[in-house]
Amino acid sequence: MSDTPKDLHVPKGLEDVVVGTSSITFLDGLKGRMLYKGYDAVAMAGQVSFEEIVYLLWEGDLPTRAQLQPFSKSLADNRALPAEVLAVMEKFPKHCHPMDVLREGVTLLAMVASDAHDGSQKDNREKALRLVARMGTFAAAWDRIRKGLPVIPPDPTLSHSANFIYMVTGKKPDPLSVEAMDMYLSLLADHDLNASTFTARVIISTLSDMHSAIAGALGALKGPLHGGANEKAMEMFLEIGDPAQVDSWVEKALQEKRKIMGFGHRVYKVEDPRSVPLRAMAHRLSVEKGDTRWYNISIKVAEAVQRHKNIYTNVDFYSASVLYLLGIPIDLFTTVFAAGRVAGWCAHVFEQLADNRLIRPRTDYTGPTDRVFKPLAQR
Ligand code: SDX
Repeated sequence: MSDTPKDLHVPKGLEDVVVGTSSITFLDGLKGRMLYKGYDAVAMAGQVSFEEIVYLLWEGDLPTRAQLQPFSKSLADNRALPAEVLAVMEKFPKHCHPMDVLREGVTLLAMVASDAHDGSQKDNREKALRLVARMGTFAAAWDRIRKGLPVIPPDPTLSHSANFIYMVTGKKPDPLSVEAMDMYLSLLADHDLNASTFTARVIISTLSDMHSAIAGALGALKGPLHGGANEKAMEMFLEIGDPAQVDSWVEKALQEKRKIMGFGHRVYKVEDPRSVPLRAMAHRLSVEKGDTRWYNISIKVAEAVQRHKNIYTNVDFYSASVLYLLGIPIDLFTTVFAAGRVAGWCAHVFEQLADNRLIRPRTDYTGPTDRVFKPLAQR
């Protein structure tokens, strides 16, 4: 009947369907490997700053010290939010979820920016820089506004990760906390064609603008099957509360066919490689901060789930206790994911625009055909 090719069976959810090419991130789902522009992203974790990873994803190689200094300064110089954006945020209902505020905040940035709809490569680079610089500022500022506290302005003398923790907690963080945030943001910076990145590429493929692509990606990331899982994983740890309760909790959850947040992955058939450094960091932070309960619960949950099902932890599992131990409010967790992933979203926007064609797939139509119309008077 229709002109769609019949022999093209497409798995539900586009599982393992290759829809394009990219030179940004390589994933090996069978071996559990993740490369950023050819470098082992997991091996670099803990040894690079988030600024170095953003530069790598955008420029194609790790920066020299001479390249990193001005790049880091340009990020630091762009962290503050425009006064008119903050004024609108003050009017948002205090119950708004931080991811909704981020999504609206990005749209507001476009509305106050003079270059919002100039799709030139130079302007897109500048817009991307401001989006990476400000994503964390949105999250921190909202947390202060909703609590009725004065917004803590960004400190340009601090690194990107240190400044984010400072804007949220009001305290300049210790070196381990900065290392942990750098690791987290760097590991979350990009991940092939995940749902939110695919969303950004579809939007920019219509030659819409950078801010619209990032706002759409934020909408996709919010879902608990994607970036929202880190918040749910921490809520699970709090609900369990005691390592001794883990086994009974997991058994009951699996009997009820519940999804255990932070487990499973569409691509990885083994443990998410990002879990390895994040698990180690969760342990180091829990010992340093003198609060090992959540780490102990997470280890026992992982053991219990793997006794029952052949599924492994993903990036959202151990990052939950890392972010909690850093003093980040739970409902801000996904905004921190976004603060890392915005670097990858922008890299994919640049790549899509460099060799663009409108992304427009088909459906295999299963509805009725050739029905006879009757005007309302006859129905
Ligand atoms: C991220 O794509 C990316 O790269 C994403 C990400 C990135 O960096 O961008 O890595 C970040 O989003 C990580 C995923 C975060 N989401 C969660 O932790 C939510 C819980 N996970 C699941 O909903 C699920 O594992 C997905 C959504 C992540 C993947 O889902 P799939 O590939 O569609 O797998 P599925 O739901 O079809 O499950 C296959 C089987 C099923 O068992 P059966 O019904 O066939 O017996 O595995 C089971 C599922 O029940 N299963 C789970 C499970 N995940 C899969 N069972 C319990 N708990 C889970 N979490």
